[in-house]
Amino acid sequence: MIEILRGITELRAWRKALPHEASVGLVPTMGALHAGHISLVSLSRTQCDVTIASIFVNPLQFGPNEDLAKYPRPLENDLALLEAAGADAVFLPSVEELYPAGASTYVVEESVSLPLCGAFRPGHFRGVATIVLKLFNLVQPTRAFFGQKDAQQCAVIERMVRDLDVPVEIVRGAIIREADGLAMSSRNVYLSPEERRLAPLIRHSILAAVDAYAAGERNAATLVAKGRPLLEGDPAFTVQYWEVRDPQSLEALATIGERGALIAVAAYLGKTRLIDNQLL
Ligand code: PAJ
Repeated sequence: MIEILRGITELRAWRKALPHEASVGLVPTMGALHAGHISLVSLSRTQCDVTIASIFVNPLQFGPNEDLAKYPRPLENDLALLEAAGADAVFLPSVEELYPAGASTYVVEESVSLPLCGAFRPGHFRGVATIVLKLFNLVQPTRAFFGQKDAQQCAVIERMVRDLDVPVEIVRGAIIREADGLAMSSRNVYLSPEERRLAPLIRHSILAAVDAYAAGERNAATLVAKGRPLLEGDPAFTVQYWEVRDPQSLEALATIGERGALIAVAAYLGKTRLIDNQLL
């Protein structure tokens, strides 16, 4: 049976009772779990003796006009999925316990968190970095697993771990997709049937640039010109960014060299904000 840990005291007692030599894998989530999250649990199980997931809809990473209140919270289903995936434990803290009244300390990364989503969601990565460091301090995992789906989130967390000497190894899991190419996301449930039908255009626009790259194109602006207009040409989408950037620093890039590149896209489809990306 999966162990359900509802508070910090329970979590710390669980952690303390583990054998000293056991490797511990942490999969942080906000719940509404799908095959993308579960792939990270499976990856952790292949690399660690013990796997714990967390489910916490972190208010600190939502902007004032974002979907905190309506974020899906299908807890019973999430627990069944984690149990079936073989997770050993799940941490379900409350907002009150993680952010006690008067909490005033934050983690602010000031480089890789600035462009892309950082430019459109002020405070988002401050919220992510703060909660992830708190989860690392509480769980003290050997490894922590994050999806490449949120490539910039991975970059921010990797930078935080390096800069603050956090004793954890960050592992990235591949993007899990629906059969038609749409990257799985807890927010896909917001899409109307018509929007859901259109949503794979994000992936198709990226693949147009991937094809050009495979054919030898290395000029970033040319690759953007292959993909971005495909998405912008459909009035159902409002593109926030469609960019080719350095895969680690996320800085703008003119020519793709040995370091490769990241194609990163964010767009509104109706009222739903979707992101996707591809490493080159
Ligand atoms: P959430 O959106 O629930 O995602 C939890 C983890 O699942 C993240 O590492 C995310 O990148 C990964 N994930 C989501 N969709 C995926 C997909 N289609 N394929 C592979 N992995 C996928 O990301 C967060 O929560 C939060 O910001 C969190 C890190 C928990 C901090 O609050």
